[in-house]
Amino acid sequence: MANQAVTDKGNSCCGHAESHAEHTFKTATEALKADHRVIEEVLNALERLARAPELSALDQWEKAIDFIRNFADKCHHLKEEKLLFPAMEEHGVPLEGGPLGVMLMEHEEGRGYVKAMAAALTIAAKDPAAAKKTLQEMGRAYVRFLREHIQKEDDILFNMADDVLSGEEQKELLRDFEEHELKEIGSGVHEKYLAIAQELTAGR
Ligand SMILES: [Fe+2]
Ligand SMILES: [Fe+2]
Repeated sequence: MANQAVTDKGNSCCGHAESHAEHTFKTATEALKADHRVIEEVLNALERLARAPELSALDQWEKAIDFIRNFADKCHHLKEEKLLFPAMEEHGVPLEGGPLGVMLMEHEEGRGYVKAMAAALTIAAKDPAAAKKTLQEMGRAYVRFLREHIQKEDDILFNMADDVLSGEEQKELLRDFEEHELKEIGSGVHEKYLAIAQELTAGR
């Protein structure tokens, strides 16, 4: 089902009014994987926008970029960077020159694509041809890039995390995720971004 991930209960991002991730997920990595499924739905929508022959639906581009900046980056990537990766580092997984460093670099690289897409949107009225070219190129590249990043985390990095972190540490991380969401994003924002993901998935 196309938008199963965005309609399922128990996604961990962003800013739930009530703390329930701890009750929904057994591990922090499971919660992050649930975020990935929602992000992938938006990547599918972004791919559709980037492959459209004409540059239209600028409001959908805006929504997709808003979602990526806030749900995917500010909430999800920062939970990895500020909480999961340091916890893994404490167990001897190296930051520099290791998989964590690669993931950090990739997060930064992803921000570059998003910045370019956001800049292109601002010139869409004045120079639609240039905006279209950048949005289509950057959009396709970003989709490809983030899918690969997600796959590396799902298949490799999170397995490493599951190997080194104890059950109690995973539960502590889940609690920290909730705190992070409330502090960084605020309550109620989770629902807003799930609604945006649903809208984009439905192609409205
Ligand atoms: Fe990541
Ligand atoms: Fe991730």
